[in-house]
Formats: sequence, structure tokens, C-alpha cells
Amino acid sequence: MREKVILITGAAGEMGQALVQELSQDGANNRVLTMDLNPMPAEFASMTTHITGDILDERLFARLVTKYDFDVIFHLAALLSTRAEFSPELAHRVNVDGTLLLLQMAADQSQARNRPVQFIFPSSIAAYGMPDLETKARDGRVREWDWNMPTTMYGCNKLYCEQLGSYFAHHYMQLAVNRPVMLDFRSLRFPGLISAFTLPTGGTTDYGPEMLHAAAQGKPFACFVRPDSALPFMVMPDAVRALLKLATAPRQALTRDVYNVTSFSITAAAIRERTLAAFPGAEISYDVDTRRQGIVDSWPADLSDKAARRDWGWEPVYDVDRAFNEYLIPNIQQRYHKMS
Ligand code: SER
Repeated sequence: MREKVILITGAAGEMGQALVQELSQDGANNRVLTMDLNPMPAEFASMTTHITGDILDERLFARLVTKYDFDVIFHLAALLSTRAEFSPELAHRVNVDGTLLLLQMAADQSQARNRPVQFIFPSSIAAYGMPDLETKARDGRVREWDWNMPTTMYGCNKLYCEQLGSYFAHHYMQLAVNRPVMLDFRSLRFPGLISAFTLPTGGTTDYGPEMLHAAAQGKPFACFVRPDSALPFMVMPDAVRALLKLATAPRQALTRDVYNVTSFSITAAAIRERTLAAFPGAEISYDVDTRRQGIVDSWPADLSDKAARRDWGWEPVYDVDRAFNEYLIPNIQQRYHKMS
């Protein structure tokens, strides 16, 4: 008999580590299989069975499906937006071809066991493309169907993969005489994420977490966007909570496949102010990178997460004050204090 597991791709990344930790503590005795190009940090050894491998390796998946029954897949592996602009073709291979391969595998498994595999897919504010700063200032909380005109490879990849997921969930092989079992596909559009314990790599919202972590270590930081740059953000515990809450929502309550979720909208200047209040004397200047600024300007200042609140009771625990005062600052302080 194949072993029932939760599969997490990209598990050694920021969100992956936080999700694995949460799943190992939730008392449900989940069997978690993780995959990443990189090994998991040593402290995760008891929490998962880890496979160091490439999500584009078809032969690896062919072997894995003979051994495991993937009940839920959290497909987190991706190249983020800044990184993707430097290697757009690689980003397309990882972000799109990798997702297609996993969707196909999940569809085959759904068919083989005659029950939908649940496929959870984190998408992003990068799926939006605001035409100019006036529109960004005017439109405020953007809804899921507004401005789906991404300007980055990563944004294009995410938007298309949301649609691929919906295809596999509702229309896959629609001309076949016997319709196959459809996937249970659920996706979240996340704002910029900030963790007190890890740093992202290759994202465009990275100025937020980088500023805080640099200040805590007494390192000078030059912020690569203008002070007035406004984006929605969320702290990592809320992001993991959103993933798990959507995964456990009753299917019949969901009116969409893709939901915005957010916590607070904040400017780079306000992140700087809060950082300086916590770490007086921190050296935080601005050295605007006009190209990365262009990407930030194309993303909405805020998101409407009304649908998520209505359908599956989404609500962030951390508003901006709690995020900084109760989660980020104390944990970051403690982290670097311990390290020194
Ligand atoms: N944080 C991501 C990035 O900056 C957006 O989803 O690429």
C-alpha cells in the first residue's frame, strides 16, 4: 500500500520552513514529504522525509508516485520576481513547467485513487499590473479580477498557473467520454511576506525584511525603493495560517479558486520608522533602483480580501502594530542577540 503523505515542494524556502514547522506541531500526526533543490536545515530532520531534487525531474516523480499517495500538495517551489527577471526562461521552466508537471501528476493520482488530490498553490500580488502611480493611488484595495496584467515573468507565471490549476480542477480532458476525477485546486494571492526567522531570496518585496534584519544586526541598509512606495505585507505566521485555513475549508464554501489575502498596507518610509524606533541609531538610507522600483509601482498598494473573509473566515491575527510589536521586533531582537 502506498503511504499517504502531504507533499511540500520548495520546502527549504522561507514559507516552506514555516509550514513544515507548523504541520509538525499541529498534533495531527501528518506524514510530510518535503522536496527542494537544497537540503532542509538540520533542525527539520525529525519533522519530514526530505528529498533533495528538482521539480522538473520527471523520473524522480515517476518513482515517488509508486511509493506515496499525495493527499495534499503545497506547491511552493518558485523563482521569485527579481531573480526571474535575470533568468526569465529558467523562471518559466521552474514556475510554469514545474507546476504543470505537478498538476499532471496530481491529476493522475486523483484518477488512480478515485478521489481528488488537494493542490494548494501560493500566488502573488505580482499577478497584478497597475498601469501608473495615479491608478495605484486611486484604486486602493484591488479585487481578484482587477488589473490582471502583470509586467514581470514571475507575475505572468503565477497568473497562468492559477488558470492552469482551475483548468485541472474544472475542465481537464473535457472531451473525454469518461471525465476523469478533477483536482481540488485552491490558490492564494499573497502580499509581501516578512519572517522574523528567515530572509527571502530574489524577491522584490525583500526591502521590508532586509531592512529589519540588517538593523537588528547593526548593519547599514540602503533601501532600493522610494520612501512613498506602498505595498501590502503580511507576517509569516499569518501566511502559514492562511494556507492551512484555506486547505481545511469545506469545498462547498469556496466560490473561487483564487483568493487575495492580506494584513496591512505600509510604505517603505513607515517600515523604516518602525525599524528605527526598535533599533535606534540604525543606518537606513535610500538608494533607489529604478528598475525594481518599476516593479513595486506596478503592484497594488492594497488588496481586497473580502472573498476570503466571507467564504472561509480568513482574518489575519497580526495587524501592523501587532506584526511589529509582538512578532517581528521581539523575535528578531532575540534571534540576533542569541547569535552574538
Ligand atoms: N514577494 C514576492 C516577490 O517579491 C512577491 O510575491 O517576488
